[in-house]
Amino acid sequence: MENQLQKIVNPLLAWYDTHRRALPWRIDRDPYHVWVSEIMLQQTRVEAVVKYYTRFIRTLPDVRSLSEVPEDRLLKLWEGLGYYSRARNLKKAAEMMVRDGGGVFPDTFDSLRKLPGVGEYTAGAIASICFHEKVTAVDGNVLRVVSRVTGSRENVLLPAVRRRMESLLLQVLPDDAGSFNEALMELGETVCLPGSAAQCGECPLRGNCTAFRDGIAAELPVRVKKTQRRQEQRTVFLLMTEDGRIAVEKRPDTGLLAGMYQLPNVEGFLTEEEIRVAAETWGMQVLDIAFLKEARHVFTHLDWLMKGYRVRVARPAGAFLWVTPAQLREQYALPTALKPFAPFPTAWKKRGRHSSGEQE
Ligand code: ADE
Repeated sequence: MENQLQKIVNPLLAWYDTHRRALPWRIDRDPYHVWVSEIMLQQTRVEAVVKYYTRFIRTLPDVRSLSEVPEDRLLKLWEGLGYYSRARNLKKAAEMMVRDGGGVFPDTFDSLRKLPGVGEYTAGAIASICFHEKVTAVDGNVLRVVSRVTGSRENVLLPAVRRRMESLLLQVLPDDAGSFNEALMELGETVCLPGSAAQCGECPLRGNCTAFRDGIAAELPVRVKKTQRRQEQRTVFLLMTEDGRIAVEKRPDTGLLAGMYQLPNVEGFLTEEEIRVAAETWGMQVLDIAFLKEARHVFTHLDWLMKGYRVRVARPAGAFLWVTPAQLREQYALPTALKPFAPFPTAWKKRGRHSSGEQE
């Protein structure tokens, strides 16, 4: 398939040639300068970085001076930029360069990547800008530009999507990969701005941009965060009398699955002995215990991993309602999470998450 990004290379480089901002780390292509600026720019905006950068380079002009600076002095230079591990890693990396390489800067993507604090993006930026290596440097700005140009609605927070975009870029990288990478970042920072701040009227890629054509620039890129789910292990009891009635109980009127009826269940994976003790504590005499199955149910903020057991009992306890399978099916609202353990065929088996309309 044709790579849509091919068409942006020349207009982008031409635009960068005339529109690039005069930033202090662009005066030369000294790797020490580019490295320090890239690390500062990781969590901080360009305008804020300029004055920190200038003072930093004046105070610590090279790898050796950085490797020797006392930590207090270093942190003082960094004060206000935040994320201080960035500064500590800079010094650690400088110490490594002095110790292992006689103060010489690593000059390939792979060797840069070994420095503390240098990830794929930073290694790609330094290798391409300073050493003309044909590698990509993909940050959030670049993902935004690529999503819009290609009209991709894929979630850029997924590593696989990022990889695919990197590989599309790699296919079209020109000889001056450094300028191309910087031009993409620059466009993302000054024109292809997030959301409705996008300045499509000024964009040199307007004619090659799917999002502009379709009027959806403000919607891209798609960034869907994984929700944090707590995992909980639960043991589910299918308590059954000899004539086939089953214990159910009503859940509290507030909270998860409020007011629904459930098979008794407790937190944790119980051993069969613990299951027997629990049933006896509830006032029952246990005849036998048989493992049924495992099941999982994903709620919005919670993930239940369940093991179910059929426990046949001789003396049903009063704390529960004892119902026939037909009653359970027809009269009681059993949460989908527990249906795998119910003693009837699950005709309304999982059709995907929340297919029952239970939003928990
Ligand atoms: N943001 C981070 N690094 C950059 C660079 N080298 N050029 C433009 N913007 C950047």
